[in-house]
Amino acid sequence: MKTVPFGPTSTQVPAVAAGMMRIADKSDEEIRALYTAARDAGIDFFDHADIYGGEAHRCEQRFASALKLSASEREQITLQTKAGIVPGEWHYDSSYEHITSSVDGSLRALGTDYLDVLLIHRPDALVEPEEVARAFDELHSAGKVRAFGVSNHTPRQIDLLKTAVSQPIVANQLQLSITHSPIIAQGLAANMAGEQDAVTYDGGGILDYCRINRITVQAWSPFQTTFQGEVIFGSEKYPELNAELDRLAGKYDVEPIAIATAWITRHPAGMQVVLGTTTPQRVADAAAGSDLPLTRAEWYGLVQAAGHRVP
Ligand SMILES: NC(=O)c1ccc[n+]([C@@H]2O[C@H](COP(=O)([O-])OP(=O)(O)OC[C@H]3O[C@@H](n4cnc5c(N)ncnc54)[C@H](OP(=O)(O)O)[C@@H]3O)[C@@H](O)[C@H]2O)c1
Repeated sequence: MKTVPFGPTSTQVPAVAAGMMRIADKSDEEIRALYTAARDAGIDFFDHADIYGGEAHRCEQRFASALKLSASEREQITLQTKAGIVPGEWHYDSSYEHITSSVDGSLRALGTDYLDVLLIHRPDALVEPEEVARAFDELHSAGKVRAFGVSNHTPRQIDLLKTAVSQPIVANQLQLSITHSPIIAQGLAANMAGEQDAVTYDGGGILDYCRINRITVQAWSPFQTTFQGEVIFGSEKYPELNAELDRLAGKYDVEPIAIATAWITRHPAGMQVVLGTTTPQRVADAAAGSDLPLTRAEWYGLVQAAGHRVP
């Protein structure tokens, strides 16, 4: 498993992480098999959120109760979770009260006394950076959270938080797959009149911003076309891409999911792919792509096969 630097720290983390958004209905045995497959593949980084599972802290609680990790095993892994979305009436809340109470709920559900990483799940239009800073300071000094990051944030939204937050922002979790790739495609098509890819969806240069500021980009939904529920592999919308994934899978003697993983891990930004599969074999097959040396021609060929113009 290839590792990448985590934020501006010297910590190394696996280039592939295991997302736990879809485990709510899985049995203890299935969750244990998923966890074991991840660990066997060199994945010791697990991504959660307070809202995963349809009720507050459901997936976090399922993870903990299925695995019953010993204290020493808990220390071997990185537990990341997120706060800031209020389910039910569905709105965003980055207030001091919401962040701190959500973290307390996550600690209880995960059965741990610290989180390795806490992300603000989505940008909150009503955010008050001083409140976020107060929450982060308190959580950090109480030993409840060791590192902080964001998800789905633009460069300016991160700058705004940094006017008050003193801890480094270590990660920004963003949607990225070969087919849903505006954070990469926009840079390729910049200033090309009439090109759909030239449209800025990410606030402008979020990937370059993260590289400049040493913020680790974590790619969520790495195998969804764009919409949840539509997987790239076998999609009738992407025959050329699937042919290219199959061709490269044959060349490198891996599964197509490894090539889709490598398309993200090959990027020099040092991104983490956050897997969502609950199938142990797919975890192993994807992890096999973490360090594949795709050539530039192969990497750009996948961009073009996914329908992007390389002008
Ligand atoms: N920050 C955010 O806003 C945000 C949003 C969404 C997700 N996330 C995080 O990102 C993680 C990954 O998201 P995701 O679950 O949408 O990612 P994904 O890995 O792109 O999709 C996984 C889903 O695709 C299915 N699938 C079907 N065929 C597949 C195949 N051949 N290969 C691989 N998967 C196949 C999986 O089914 P099986 O389970 O049956 O294999 C699973 O339901 C989540 O767990 C969560 O941690 C973050």
